[in-house]
Amino acid sequence: MPQDSDVLSMLMRRKPAHSLAQEFYGDPGVFQVDMDKIWYRSWLFAIPSCEIPKPGDYVVHEVGVYSVVIVRGNDREIRAFHNSCRHRGSVLCKTKKGKNPKLVCPYHQWTYDLDGKLLWARDMGPEFDPSQHGLKQVHCRNASGMVYICLADEAPDFETLAAETARYLAPHDLENSKIAHESTIIEKGNWKLVWENNRECYHCAGNHPSLCRTFPEDPRAIGNMGDGSELATALDKHVSRCEAVGAPSAYRIAEHGEWRFVRTPLLETAESYTMDGKAAVTRPNSSIPFKDAGALLKFMYPATWNHFLSDHSILFRVTPLSPTETEVCTKWLVHKDAVEGQDYDLKRLTEVWIATNDEDREVVENNQRGILTPAYQPGPYSEIHEGGLIQFSDWYSATLIREITGPRAIAAE
Ligand code: FES
Ligand SMILES: [Fe+2]
Repeated sequence: MPQDSDVLSMLMRRKPAHSLAQEFYGDPGVFQVDMDKIWYRSWLFAIPSCEIPKPGDYVVHEVGVYSVVIVRGNDREIRAFHNSCRHRGSVLCKTKKGKNPKLVCPYHQWTYDLDGKLLWARDMGPEFDPSQHGLKQVHCRNASGMVYICLADEAPDFETLAAETARYLAPHDLENSKIAHESTIIEKGNWKLVWENNRECYHCAGNHPSLCRTFPEDPRAIGNMGDGSELATALDKHVSRCEAVGAPSAYRIAEHGEWRFVRTPLLETAESYTMDGKAAVTRPNSSIPFKDAGALLKFMYPATWNHFLSDHSILFRVTPLSPTETEVCTKWLVHKDAVEGQDYDLKRLTEVWIATNDEDREVVENNQRGILTPAYQPGPYSEIHEGGLIQFSDWYSATLIREITGPRAIAAE
């Protein structure tokens, strides 16, 4: 099974602008390195904050070997804790979502406050110090309605992403939104294949008849050229029009390429991802004064990509389950006061991306199956259509190399 050093030498031998070697898409050793060095160290989008609007509301999110409870406290702050009791380790929250005034362990009823403090433990004797047995905290930040966690002891910088998220998401009121629908699918493919498929629209014309009614497949129209230097005129015009009404839209990418924002127009006069291109929600959750504002496209590796439209927002969350299985959870967010059947029709709102997700699942699974045959060898990316994919695999390789050889790796030895 490959270790860090083997993965490093495979990365060093990688042909740039080509798909990765077979091991990266299915080998359990490489998968473990991905989990240890990327998933257990990066900021990971977990939930929209509107999913837990009231004190005591919680969600359990599992990533690899970790189980994390994300809960809103009585002070309205959102915190994250390891879902393991400080007595003998039982999980505290057994269900994926719920509401509790306190976190009570199901085993011997040790009782924790929503801020993780141990409040009550029966018959532990006079020497027992409850203050030493609070829940173990997980780094947790709410960036303008998007809750991120980080499982590392020391989390990487979050401030730049938080500031840019606040700026770009200002017109999209996620805090005052609600989940109109959520879907969870399992794609039988490595998590990187899910991302590779997401970062190009070379496959769109052949696979996404509903999405292609409104979403431009031209990479220049969606700022998908990696460094943003060759954006189409249409995109520039769109950016200026939206920025003029206070909706930040210009292409912006992180120094190490882990996140990006750009607001792109939809096709012609389309307003939203619907079959007829018209808005899906009459009570929008954005303050942009026109409907054809396109989509603010954001990604944050390794766990999320998002589309913020003028009428609603769609948040996607990626979670690796095994070397060849990945969960994709999609949440459609609408204004919290929008009423189903009156302000939106659920089928109209969700049908394009439900179909698109399923079409993506199929192409990812086909890709995975073909890669696992002995005949597979890394193939060339299209520089015209797959610039986003070149950016993704460069980010992946550079991140792993940095995490395997950098100061954090040396400090951990
Ligand atoms: S394991 Fe939680 S109270 Fe005993
Ligand atoms: Fe797709």
